[in-house]
Amino acid sequence: MTLIRCILSFLVIVSGVVDAAICYNPDRSTTDNVPCNIDAGNSTCCAKGASCLSNNLCLDPTFRGQDGLSINNKYYRGACTDKTWNSTACAPICKTKLPGFGEGVVYCGSGEYCCQEDASNCCDSNSAKKFNLGEPKIFNIAGNQVVGTAVSVPSATSSGSRTSSSTSSSSPSPTNDSGASSTTSDQDPPNNSKGKTLALSLGIGLSLGILLIAITIGAFWWIKRLQRRQKETQIEMKAQLKEQELRFDNMEHALRQAYFDGRQFELPSREEVSHEVGDRGEKTTYRHEVE
Ligand SMILES: *[C@@H]1O[C@H](CO)[C@@H](O)[C@H](O)[C@H]1NC(C)=O
Ligand SMILES: *[C@@H]1O[C@H](CO)[C@@H](O)[C@H](O)[C@H]1NC(C)=O
Ligand SMILES: *[C@@H]1O[C@H](CO)[C@@H](O)[C@H](O)[C@H]1NC(C)=O
Repeated sequence: MTLIRCILSFLVIVSGVVDAAICYNPDRSTTDNVPCNIDAGNSTCCAKGASCLSNNLCLDPTFRGQDGLSINNKYYRGACTDKTWNSTACAPICKTKLPGFGEGVVYCGSGEYCCQEDASNCCDSNSAKKFNLGEPKIFNIAGNQVVGTAVSVPSATSSGSRTSSSTSSSSPSPTNDSGASSTTSDQDPPNNSKGKTLALSLGIGLSLGILLIAITIGAFWWIKRLQRRQKETQIEMKAQLKEQELRFDNMEHALRQAYFDGRQFELPSREEVSHEVGDRGEKTTYRHEVE
C-alpha cells in the first residue's frame, strides 16, 4: 500500500533520470549515442565504446592507438544531451554538413581541427576552416558508466576526486583555446582514475538508493506504531469511561437509598414509589408503603 507506492515513485524518479540521458544530433533527431559524462547536466555523446575527448569530440575505437589517441588523426563530432546544442558541453564544430549524423573531424596538429566534409584533405585545404580546440585529450569511454547510477551527484564531489587523482600525471596541459573545452578541460587522464570515479558514483548511487528505501520503511513502521498507540489509548480511555460510569451509578444508587430511608421518618404519607435505577439492565424496584 503506502510502502509499495513509495517504492514505485522511487523507481519512477530513477527511470526519469535515466530517460533524461537522451542524445541528440545537431538537427535534434535522437541517436543511440551515449553521454560521456553522466554526472553533468549537459554532456557530449559518443557512440558506445568510443573515446570521449575533453574538447567534446569523439574517437572511434577502430582508430584508437596505443596512447589512446587516433592513429590517423581522425576523430568525429558526436551528439549531445542538450537538444538546442547551445551548451558549451556540446562539440562546437562540424555541425552543418551532416546534422543528422556524426561528422568526421581531422586533427591537423597545434590544437587545430577541420571538418572532413569541408574538403577531402581538410588540413591541407585553404578552403577548409580550422578550429582551435586544443590538443586531443581523452577523458572517458562512452557508455562505460552504469546508467542506473545516474543520480545527480554534486559536481564538487566528482571534480574533487578527479583533481586529486589527476594532479600528479596531468600537469596543466589544457591548451590555449577558448570556450569549447572549458566545461571538461579538467578531466581525467585516460585510464587510472576512471575506475575510481565509476566506483565512486556507483557507491554513491547505491547508498542513496538504500538510504531512500530505509527511510521509506522507517517512516512506514513509525506511522504504523503511531496508529497502534492511538488505538491502544482509545481502548484505555473507553475502559476508564466505563469505570467512571459504573462508579457514578453506584453513587446514584446509594443516594436514592439514602433519600428514601430519610423520607420514611420524615414524611409519613401513603405513597408508592417505583424506580428504576441504572440503565444497564439491572432493574431494581423500591417499594415503600408507609402507614
Ligand atoms: C540557442 O542558440 C540559437 C542561436 O544559435 C538561439 O536562436 C536559441 O534561442 C538558443 N536557444 C537557447 C535555449 O538558448
Ligand atoms: C544545458 O545547456 C542549455 C544551454 O546552454 C541550458 O539552457 C540548460 O540549462 C543546460 N542544462 C543543464 C541541466 O545544465
Ligand atoms: C598555443 O598556441 C600557439 C599559437 O597559437 C602555439 O604555437 C602553441 O604551441 C600552443 N600551445 C599549446 C600548448 O598548444
